[in-house]
Amino acid sequence: MALRTIRTEGDEILRKKCREVKEITPRVKELIGDMLDTMYEADGVGLAAPQVGVLKRVVVIDVGEGPLVMVNPEIKETFGEQTGDEGCLSVPGMAGQVTRPQRVVAAYCDENGDEYEIEAEDLLARAICHEVDHLDGKLYVDVVEGPLRSVESGED
Ligand code: NI
Repeated sequence: MALRTIRTEGDEILRKKCREVKEITPRVKELIGDMLDTMYEADGVGLAAPQVGVLKRVVVIDVGEGPLVMVNPEIKETFGEQTGDEGCLSVPGMAGQVTRPQRVVAAYCDENGDEYEIEAEDLLARAICHEVDHLDGKLYVDVVEGPLRSVESGED
């Protein structure tokens, strides 16, 4: 496993739509491992494959409950809304208010290709929505309410 370079806003790859993963190959497993390493190293709560320059529908999330690997994630249902602070490893040092569903139901495959459905709320629901947006070339700065503000570097 290895660290990969995180692409930042302005890099065109962040604006492209990712392709579905048809098969969990050794290469996809390596990508997942590297994404987890890269996310933890950067003190992030989530990372999507395009952020490391790979246009595949893969995200990793850890909101403090252990790693969640989602291959081909799909949000099936959303409930309610929450407005709160959001940041992104591709927009370093910044944060802003974003409204997201309070709860989501999402389907995905894990790193072994097994299918799951998860019901998530609060921060995890927010993280899933943020990361799935990345797979469609969307960044939170597109939907931020009000100005972005800078946050102290080193904050996590
Ligand atoms: Ni992000």
